[in-house]
Amino acid sequence: MSRKLAFVFVGIMIAVMLVTFFLVQELRHTIASSAGPALDVAVAIDSLIRKVVGLQTTVLFIIVLGACHLIATDRRRTKAISAQISNQTKKLLESKEKCQTLFDNTDALVFVLNTEGQYVTMNQYGLNYLNTSIKEIQHKYVEEHLGEKSAPRFRDDFRQALECGELTKSMEYLVIKGKECYVDLYMKVLKTGENEDPSILVIIRDVTQKKLFEEKLLQAEKLVSLGVLSGGVAHEINNPLGIIMGFCELLLEKTPKASEQHRVLSIIYKQSQQCKKIIEGLLNFTRLSGVENGHSNVLVPLHTVIGMLRGFLSKKGIELVLDLPETLPQTKANATAMQQVFLNVISNAMDAMPSGGTLRISAALRTKAPRQGDAHGTLPGTRQYIEINIADNGVGIPAENMNKIFDPFFTTKPVGKGTGLGLSVTYGLVTEYNGTITCQSPIMNGDQGESRGTCMTIRLPVAEE
Ligand SMILES: Nc1ncnc2c1ncn2[C@@H]1O[C@H](COP(=O)(O)OP(=O)(O)O)[C@@H](O)[C@H]1O
Ligand SMILES: [Mg+2]
Repeated sequence: MSRKLAFVFVGIMIAVMLVTFFLVQELRHTIASSAGPALDVAVAIDSLIRKVVGLQTTVLFIIVLGACHLIATDRRRTKAISAQISNQTKKLLESKEKCQTLFDNTDALVFVLNTEGQYVTMNQYGLNYLNTSIKEIQHKYVEEHLGEKSAPRFRDDFRQALECGELTKSMEYLVIKGKECYVDLYMKVLKTGENEDPSILVIIRDVTQKKLFEEKLLQAEKLVSLGVLSGGVAHEINNPLGIIMGFCELLLEKTPKASEQHRVLSIIYKQSQQCKKIIEGLLNFTRLSGVENGHSNVLVPLHTVIGMLRGFLSKKGIELVLDLPETLPQTKANATAMQQVFLNVISNAMDAMPSGGTLRISAALRTKAPRQGDAHGTLPGTRQYIEINIADNGVGIPAENMNKIFDPFFTTKPVGKGTGLGLSVTYGLVTEYNGTITCQSPIMNGDQGESRGTCMTIRLPVAEE
């Protein structure tokens, strides 16, 4: 605006100067042709006009200077404004990008539907989940991605959301693209312009893993109560059983060895011993017998058990391969408890190789904590832990049994041989010391031939000073 004004001013001044210039020229002609007093008057007018022109030039010069200043200021201001605009545009673009990234990476299917239930847009997570593209879903109905039974249910929810403006549902069972899942569902009607149809924002979060975890937790809780109950019963039975065995021993001593009575008493005594084994296992499982804490080196109980079983192993044709370090840092695990853990796991490995095989036992110090949640038990915040691997090349564990082996009373061994308590006791003891126990079966041999056998991995956190 000011620049325009300056130009107009300068223009007017130049016009005035030009007019004055022509007037002066005219006057000069008149002076040249004048004489006497007329000449004096003409000279006086000429000098006046000269002064006026001088004044005008000065004024014009000042105006031009002023105009230049105005133009320069104006240009600077324009530059600042355009810099500000581009800065704001950049910020806007950045924020849009951030929103888009957030939208795309939210770990839920986020999409917008029109009132007909057709897709308008969807985030990248959703597109990946449905293995589709934004082009493909345009004008498609959401039901196309849902199972036969899920589609009408989703349509009902959609109608309800349209009526109420919002809808929240949790742990809803849906079949999305053929995959059964549990989801948390949220729908919200988004108000747009006055005359425009509203759109509906839908957020679907797959919570199947959470649901499975909760189910496992429930199962674990059930097992705990079962353990407490059976532990109580076991405790009650322990004393009368001790008395039965005591009297049985007495009678056995008094009865001639070759008699029928001696044979029957021996059976009673043997079966009572089996009962005692079960009860001891139960008591350990429920920890009624108590688990002591105390720093120990796991190598000590491990060597004790290996020493105990070495004879049996060679008798059964099992080759023992050891990979144990000279020393290891201490763990909080009690040595006696660990002895039982190793005995249980190694006994199972021996049972899995009835016609011989190879038993590999290794122990090492590791530094990075294993991923939580994929093992039985947790290693909270552990930085250093000891890993013990006990691997056999025996019969292996069928996939359908993998989830059951740590359950109390689960056994695949004949009656009288297996109690089904070894691994549940082991699990109880290891988790007691914040450790974990995981099982891999069959052991993957990569390209070294057939995969077979079982590997039990026990991890125990290193005790802090
Ligand atoms: N190393 C192994 N190889 C094959 N199967 C195993 C192994 N360890 C455990 N199992 C399976 O887990 C089950 C439960 O083991 P456990 O709790 O020790 O009870 P038990 O040994 O009394 O049967 C066993 O019956 C067996 O089926
Ligand atoms: Mg066992």
